[in-house]
Amino acid sequence: MFQDDLLKGKRALITGGGTGLGKSIGRRYAELGADLIICGRRVEKLQETKEVFQRDIGATVTIHQCDIRDPDAVEAMMSDIWSSGSLDILVNNAAGNFIAQTKDLSHRAIDAILGIVLHGSAYCAVACGRRWIEANRPGVILNILTTSALYGAAFQVPSAMAKAGVASMTRSLAVEWGPKGIRSVAIAPGPFPTEGAGSRLRPDDLDDFPMADDIPLRRVGEHSELSNLAAFLVSEEAGFINGEIVVIDGGKSLQGVNGSATQSMQNWDDTKWASIAEKTRGR
Ligand code: HXC
Ligand code: NAP
Repeated sequence: MFQDDLLKGKRALITGGGTGLGKSIGRRYAELGADLIICGRRVEKLQETKEVFQRDIGATVTIHQCDIRDPDAVEAMMSDIWSSGSLDILVNNAAGNFIAQTKDLSHRAIDAILGIVLHGSAYCAVACGRRWIEANRPGVILNILTTSALYGAAFQVPSAMAKAGVASMTRSLAVEWGPKGIRSVAIAPGPFPTEGAGSRLRPDDLDDFPMADDIPLRRVGEHSELSNLAAFLVSEEAGFINGEIVVIDGGKSLQGVNGSATQSMQNWDDTKWASIAEKTRGR
């Protein structure tokens, strides 16, 4: 769907790029010519991904073990990255989440999620943006949110709060840094099967993670659908898109807006619809 060299000459940092959706985005960026830098806490996952990308695509991949909750660690990583060249793209993808009753959350549980998603994303954005501004260079920040950033999520309250904060950062920086040539955009995905999300959000029925019945298109997202969107948004072809949050969820988040009653209407047969028409036509 793209020119093979869409991202050639670009250097992209993907936080949490060793697993799941971050890994899929990284693979697509590398296929399109970008040099990759991936970070996370588990160095073995990063190393494994680096080896796979080098073997499959001949990609240039640098890994950084970094806990993005630690501002000094983020600063040290950025300084190391920039010492060998400038960065063009930051993807704030790393996240933590689990389902729990909110009344039972300890303060450490709340802080664990806010620390990764809200603080970590802000530390990365600021460390990167400051360098772009000092070097008078353009850049793109792509934040991976979830639809709960826009609509909330019962039983995932810290995640929904943190992602809403990152949505606000996306729109705020679009205006503050736009004049400096730095774009800020976001993707709000619905369900895309990954081991990380499945084990925390559907621990009892991993096989049922897709939840396809809740999705108007009756299927979950394909990783390629998200990674192609992520490639487009950071490319120069999307150069006038700034501050936008693109929802990619098969229509799932609109299901509730249309009312839960419409769910059962999907299963009504023609006889039922005829009887409804009989009752509802004006007399
Ligand atoms: C209640 C929990 C908990 C749980 C941890 N805690 N898991 N509380 N229910 N399931 C509490 C702990 O008891 C502890 O509090 C505090 O949180 C910190 O826990 P640690 O294990 O010490 O934290 P840490 O090692 O930093 O791990 C962070 C984590 C973990 C977020 C808890 O799950 C993680 O590393 N996640 C990263 C990957 C991930 O979550 N991927 C899914 C992304 S999916 P106390 O008080 O006991 O000390 C996603 C989808 C969005 O974002 C929406 C999809 C539709
Ligand atoms: P995942 O594989 O668990 O991805 C999370 C990544 O973040 C892991 O690589 C993890 O690596 C890294 N990470 C977590 N805490 C970190 C920290 N403190 N410092 C650095 N890295 C850290 O789950 P995923 O499903 O691919 O999620 C990726 C993104 O998509 C997240 O932003 C998530 O909210 C979003 N999303 C996913 C779905 C879905 O259905 N899958 C839906 C909506 C949104 P380490 O553990 O090694 O640090």
